[in-house]
Amino acid sequence: MSDIAPLKQEPELFNPSAQFVNNANIAGMEGYRAICAAAEEDFEGFWARHARDHISWHKPFTRTLNEEQAPFYRWFEDGELNVSYNCLDRNVANGNAEKTAVIFEADDGQVTQITYAQLHARVCQFANGLRALGIGKGDRVVIYMPMSIEGIAAMQACARIGAVHSVVFAGFSAKSLRERIIDAGAVAVITADEQVRGGKHLPLKSIVDEALDLGGCDTVNNVIVYKRTGAGIDLVPGRDLWLDTLLAEQPTTSEPEWVGAEHPLFILYTSGSTGKPKGVQHACGGYLLWAMLTMKWTFDIKPADVFWCTADIGWITGHTYIAYGPLAAGATQVVFEGVPTWPDAGRFWDMVSKHRTTIFYTAPTAIRALIKACDKDPHLHPKRYDLSSLRLLGSVGEPINPEAWMWYYHNVGNGECPIVDTFWQTETGGHMISPLPGVTPLVPGSCTLPLPGIMAAVVDEAGNELPHGQGGILVFKRPWPSMIRTVWGDPERFKASYFPQELGGKLYLAGDGAVRNEKTGYFSITGRIDDVLNVSGHRMGTMEIESVLVANPRVAEAAVVGKPDDTTGEAICAYVMLKGPRPLGDEAQRIARELRDWVAREISPIAKPKEIRFADNLPKTRSGKVMRRLLRAIAKGEPITQDLSTLEDPAILEQLRQAQ
Ligand code: WTA
Repeated sequence: MSDIAPLKQEPELFNPSAQFVNNANIAGMEGYRAICAAAEEDFEGFWARHARDHISWHKPFTRTLNEEQAPFYRWFEDGELNVSYNCLDRNVANGNAEKTAVIFEADDGQVTQITYAQLHARVCQFANGLRALGIGKGDRVVIYMPMSIEGIAAMQACARIGAVHSVVFAGFSAKSLRERIIDAGAVAVITADEQVRGGKHLPLKSIVDEALDLGGCDTVNNVIVYKRTGAGIDLVPGRDLWLDTLLAEQPTTSEPEWVGAEHPLFILYTSGSTGKPKGVQHACGGYLLWAMLTMKWTFDIKPADVFWCTADIGWITGHTYIAYGPLAAGATQVVFEGVPTWPDAGRFWDMVSKHRTTIFYTAPTAIRALIKACDKDPHLHPKRYDLSSLRLLGSVGEPINPEAWMWYYHNVGNGECPIVDTFWQTETGGHMISPLPGVTPLVPGSCTLPLPGIMAAVVDEAGNELPHGQGGILVFKRPWPSMIRTVWGDPERFKASYFPQELGGKLYLAGDGAVRNEKTGYFSITGRIDDVLNVSGHRMGTMEIESVLVANPRVAEAAVVGKPDDTTGEAICAYVMLKGPRPLGDEAQRIARELRDWVAREISPIAKPKEIRFADNLPKTRSGKVMRRLLRAIAKGEPITQDLSTLEDPAILEQLRQAQ
């Protein structure tokens, strides 16, 4: 079971059952081809029709796509809407008022349910509270919250008043939080006294205090604190206030702010190939449309479903498939505060069974960790739980290796649930390449085919499309409604990162390598082509970690590369040259520990290098460039095959190989 090396033999195809196909929102390959053909024949007409059918517009749009300022594409630009209205008011009016919107399970197992009517009231109060603080259209609000109904309500409340939220994952350090607050120019921070995960308490409010105390966050007027545990915290008079107090007197209705379709809905920071994270900016209309369409197409969402996406609201998956998509679809969803391995590694299966979850969407890392856990303790095997409610499984965040896929398929899905392996990114806003559960014969490890309307291709370095079977660069040839609009405050970086001139300036560059199967045309993602790592499905820029390492007073130089890892997909491996002599034995271990903690404090525990190797020097070409390919080969323990003639000091290789 735990042998998760890639499969070598020809993959088997898994077809959806006739029953699934008969009931699916898109049924059979003919159904899929017909929708794709509609998009090919009349691209704008296709998107316009769906936008009219799915969104309640306050003012209808007359122009579908404006390409005049490409690659700054504008969708439905003269239309007006409110995203929160579409998620909440519409459901309250459409007969879902008493339907459960969220089943929240806390870390300790306590369950709270909230209906659409109650969530609507809560969000309205929240929106009124924010307005009472003078927050309004276009203001940026940073949300640094645990997984909670309040976290979702905070996002929805911002959307309701036209404020632009920027959720910062509550595992980021004070420094990372501060950097994002400053870059976004946030007027307020919404946080909690503490976060509780796996029985451990993390003092979020004190981290916010630390971030603000570091200085430079002059735009922040208020810190709003949700009382999660009641732990003692300091409230700075005039700046900080309890959420409860703020909302106590607020009315439970609130007129939504009608905004243009291109009005920014949120900014979400993600790692790129430089040291500075990019603020990915999304727009209201197009983002909402794709969240809804992918709920319907990829997740085949139906009124009776109980949907559970295990992501955190701090990542894009938690935005599209927790805070917006399921609510816009009028679905009931499970939201979980804790971690999959606490109190034991059966937690997910216990929750699926308890809440009668029908659609379950998680990350390959979690699956691999749970495979290992039940190898050790067979009591935690999913087969020991009643998972009969499940009808569809999903995977996101990184390539899923065929062994993990097979385990998921047979043991969680009982061989009866299709698995949608959804390829997408923070920048794409929603799924791009994914099986459709009532359509696509599945191949373990392949994200299969683009969604209707999405024009994906594999090209060479000059932007020419490659024949199937040949590996290359994944691009999208046409814009789509939920695409990134710009990098917040840095339009040049947006253009250079996503529409590079080398590819002709018109192709969206995903940053991943891909290959299409010769027979089926299915896409398989071969991994990032830039200096971005994917650790447990979290994107980490190698430059970001390097610049933090060299900021440590001990460190002279550092190079960070990825190394395949059984559980986390990729692990971070850092080669470090200290200012003093190369440490050995216990001293090396002590300094390695110190540097790991340093990275955790400066960025986040998720950025901690798993391995740190010390050397007298880093391998460089004569022109002074660090030879990363070589470092990657060494990290993987692979034989070195590349040309070393340009290497400045070949003796360094042995040292790097041995150093641990
Ligand atoms: C990777 C997460 C293979 C990919 C939604 C992408 C995947 C990056 C898959 C985006 C998948 C995501 N198969 N690789 N199904 N899904 N990726 O922005 O490298 O956190 O570019 O968005 O994750 O990560 P992000």
